[in-house]
Amino acid sequence: MFVYFFLTGLVFTSILTESSATVRYQPEQIHLSFGEKERSIVITWSTGNKTDSIVKYGGGGQLLQTKAGSCSLFVDGGSKKASQYIHRVTLYYEEPDSLQPETKYYYHVGSDRGWSAIYWFMTPPENLNEWAPSIAIYGDMGNVNAQSLPRLQAETQAGNYDAIIHVGDFAYNMDDYDGEVGDEFMRQIETIAAYVPYMTTVGNHESAYNFSHYRARFSMPGPYENMMYSFNMGPIHFISFSTEYYYYLRYGFKMLVKQYEWLENDLKMANHPANRTIRPWIITLGHRPMYCSNKDDDDCTRIKNRLRYGITPLRLFALEDLFYKYSVDLEIWAHEHSYERLWPIYDYKVYNGSYDEPYTNPRAPVHIVVGSAGCQERVDSFNPLPSWSGFRSSDYGYSRVKVHNATHLNLQQVSDDLDGQVIDDWWLVKEMPRIKFPLADKLEEATKDTSQNHIRETVEINE
Ligand SMILES: [Fe+2]
Repeated sequence: MFVYFFLTGLVFTSILTESSATVRYQPEQIHLSFGEKERSIVITWSTGNKTDSIVKYGGGGQLLQTKAGSCSLFVDGGSKKASQYIHRVTLYYEEPDSLQPETKYYYHVGSDRGWSAIYWFMTPPENLNEWAPSIAIYGDMGNVNAQSLPRLQAETQAGNYDAIIHVGDFAYNMDDYDGEVGDEFMRQIETIAAYVPYMTTVGNHESAYNFSHYRARFSMPGPYENMMYSFNMGPIHFISFSTEYYYYLRYGFKMLVKQYEWLENDLKMANHPANRTIRPWIITLGHRPMYCSNKDDDDCTRIKNRLRYGITPLRLFALEDLFYKYSVDLEIWAHEHSYERLWPIYDYKVYNGSYDEPYTNPRAPVHIVVGSAGCQERVDSFNPLPSWSGFRSSDYGYSRVKVHNATHLNLQQVSDDLDGQVIDDWWLVKEMPRIKFPLADKLEEATKDTSQNHIRETVEINE
């Protein structure tokens, strides 16, 4: 009898082991991003066990082309040490991949141990100067109460967007339950992220284990594991960076220094006349805002917040001056669970283009806060309206940005609470060639001698 139970147990255990091993070969969490080379597409997915990393793809519905990539092991920092293999394959426009412009590609991912469902993506037009991309942008969307997601799914799968940008705070939190919450979130956004590049910015909810889930799960361009990078879409140069380096100093100061140097260098390059002529729109993406009028105690409610003013007392790494100096057009933030559009602003002063047309040739960058996509922490309310705030709403929702050409950008704020109604619709109009903001030269002169040690003295500027 003992032998019978022993043998039965052995067979049962072996079936279980085999069964769970088989299930973990199946690809999941499929998502796209733009790669190192402009327009290249990185396809990322996960499997529990190690498999080959293969994408089969093609135009016209036939998956006749094959591209292999590689995978890396990711181990969660929790006690279970849950692991998964994260696969990456990049498709280029050159031989042998030969993506064609303005073509709908179908693809699936996996290996001979298991294939995903078939998804598709559209490639941009050949002449990138004629590309007028549409992008959905939001922050602060989690697993629970992801209220904007159904509308984003419908619009993305209808082909309304060329990319989606998520400006920090994913899943709440990706590391919870030994990373299961992160896995569920990535499966949830597959319904949008498998169809268009899903570009990301890090937020405070990704801080666990030194941001390891965020750094491992996404595939942004550049050498800094998704924490800072820039990419181009037609006439736009996007710069994504970590506001969290300013707040999680327990992880060290080194990356904060590195990032400031990188930002200045990237802005310098983007401002080179040869580049700014082709890509006149410079848009920054950072999670925590410099300004907000929310009724909470967040740093953006303070005049001397770290991002805007710099780290006191020496005003280290202050970003408002830096972005102003390099004529950033639009600064997009999240973190506050609300939408807020500021008047063009610098140092708490409003620099509208004119009284009638505040956003036509504004004399300072424009800031918006778009952190209301939906999460378990609900929305944030506001303090009394300050003079520098143009419009705000605590409805759940997301932004649509359409850059029509070198001079005209349209932004719409969609309210999910109001069944998709557009509650804010405005145009940012900038002349060509771009001109410096009026105080830029003076600021440059005042900070020239301190650029090596990143100290920004208080600059007295009289208009
Ligand atoms: Fe946040």
